[in-house]
Amino acid sequence: MKLSFHGQSTIYFEANGKKVIVDPFISGNELSDLNPEDVEVDYIVLTHGHGDHFGDTVDIAKKNNATVVGLAEVADYLSTSQGVENVHPMNIGGKWEFEFGSVKYVQAFHSSSLTNEDGIPAYLGASTGLILEIDGKTIYHCGDTGLFSDMKLIADRHPVDVCFVPIGDNFTMGIDDASYAINEFIQPKITVPIHYNTFPYIEQDPEEFKKLVNKGEVQILKPGEEVKFD
Ligand code: NI
Ligand code: MN
Repeated sequence: MKLSFHGQSTIYFEANGKKVIVDPFISGNELSDLNPEDVEVDYIVLTHGHGDHFGDTVDIAKKNNATVVGLAEVADYLSTSQGVENVHPMNIGGKWEFEFGSVKYVQAFHSSSLTNEDGIPAYLGASTGLILEIDGKTIYHCGDTGLFSDMKLIADRHPVDVCFVPIGDNFTMGIDDASYAINEFIQPKITVPIHYNTFPYIEQDPEEFKKLVNKGEVQILKPGEEVKFD
């Protein structure tokens, strides 16, 4: 399976002949290696509505006629006010089998809104993590979140092969809480730190995070690099 990281919280994968991008924050993301014009996908999956996750969703969805998978409020916002035709609304605890594999929404401790050009915020429901079961691998994309002990419950229910975990601090867990989450709660085979160094508020050293992790393998990926499976 091709599974790659593209800066901030963006991941891309191809499974069962389908191309999928999660949280496509490309325009305005200096760390992104992608060009929104060139992104070809069948699906976009969103963890929440903040701009550094929602990103180029509308343009990419329209250009590719892609289906956007998101929380009910996000899907409703896209279809009623953004002109995105194909949406699949979901909510926390729910799982759906797509052509590429399954998506299950799990909780995250965070917020979700998007402010338009007029300065009016659209409140977009909860913020979430994702359990993706693809090509026999279980991926836990934590989204944006603080530390919470039910990460253990989530990982007990879905033993994790690859965990994408935020380490940037300020808006999410920093390296102390993120390494605790990995060591004590999630214990994945492979951990990929995300959501750092994109902005001054979230400057962190992923090597410091790696030193603190004592379960599984940490892969620090540059934007564009793929997760290395054995
Ligand atoms: Ni956020
Ligand atoms: Mn974020």
